[in-house]
Amino acid sequence: MRHLLGIAGLDRPTIEGLLARSEVHLRSLQTGEGPKPFVWRWIATVFFEDSTRTRLSFEAAAASLGANVVTWSARGSSTSKGETLLDTVRNIDAMGPAAMVIRHGSSGAPHLAAAHVRGAVINGGDGTNEHPSQALLDAFTLQKALGSLGGKRIAIVGDVAHSRVARSNILCLSAMGAEVIVCGPPTLIPPCIESLGAKVSYDLDAIVAEVDAVMMLRLQLERQSESFIPSVREFGRLFGLNTARADRMRAHAVVLHPGPLNRGVEIGSDVADGARSRILDQVRHGVAVRRAILEACG
Ligand code: NCD
Repeated sequence: MRHLLGIAGLDRPTIEGLLARSEVHLRSLQTGEGPKPFVWRWIATVFFEDSTRTRLSFEAAAASLGANVVTWSARGSSTSKGETLLDTVRNIDAMGPAAMVIRHGSSGAPHLAAAHVRGAVINGGDGTNEHPSQALLDAFTLQKALGSLGGKRIAIVGDVAHSRVARSNILCLSAMGAEVIVCGPPTLIPPCIESLGAKVSYDLDAIVAEVDAVMMLRLQLERQSESFIPSVREFGRLFGLNTARADRMRAHAVVLHPGPLNRGVEIGSDVADGARSRILDQVRHGVAVRRAILEACG
């Protein structure tokens, strides 16, 4: 694997291989033992959009593998002087990083960059298209929580239309043999989402007791140029995971959220911090999974 641009194009054995290596890396992070699988000279994180988890997690993963990390942010850069995406990434590439983790507000930006640079490109989230490292850490977390993914029913709930996390997860979980149901108001479910392999529901109460996991999505108001919902309060009432709904979930069922959370909108605080929540496990696993990704692209 030279680049990781999306889950699209990855087959099941490749995903399984990455998840298996993630397990090795998780053990090594927990025990501090295990040989460092490789030492890259340095990598760059190139984020045109804000991030807490993804950036820090890639940086922690690279540092723990012995690579130096250099951070570039759009804020404070020559982007404000009109420099193009391609000029920016070619200039960073000319400095010689082994890999760049790129996040950009436009779908396809990392793919364009990959065609013009010498180093590896890892997609840290592009527009509403894909967020492959998030989907892999979600699959890893679900596999650990549920034992396996084959035959499991996973609901992805909320603002599916604006979510690159949803798209990558639909591809990844269905490749691994899980059944994916996306759920939200019709205006936030893209019309052709079934073609990616998901079923559609517009009624969270009808499915919440039937699934093995619920993945809540943030309502991405910053990506919504027009009003997709009558009100945030109504959206929360109909599609928020509150305690009453979480209490109806199957005994073993778990709750995920990629973060950042809109507490009290798509997820109640009691649920986010409750016994079913695997939200901080997702973050913990993210470092191990990103070590496996860096290793695979190295
Ligand atoms: C997500 C993203 O940026 O796509 N966050 C993340 O990487 N964990 C989801 C979001 O912003 O809601």
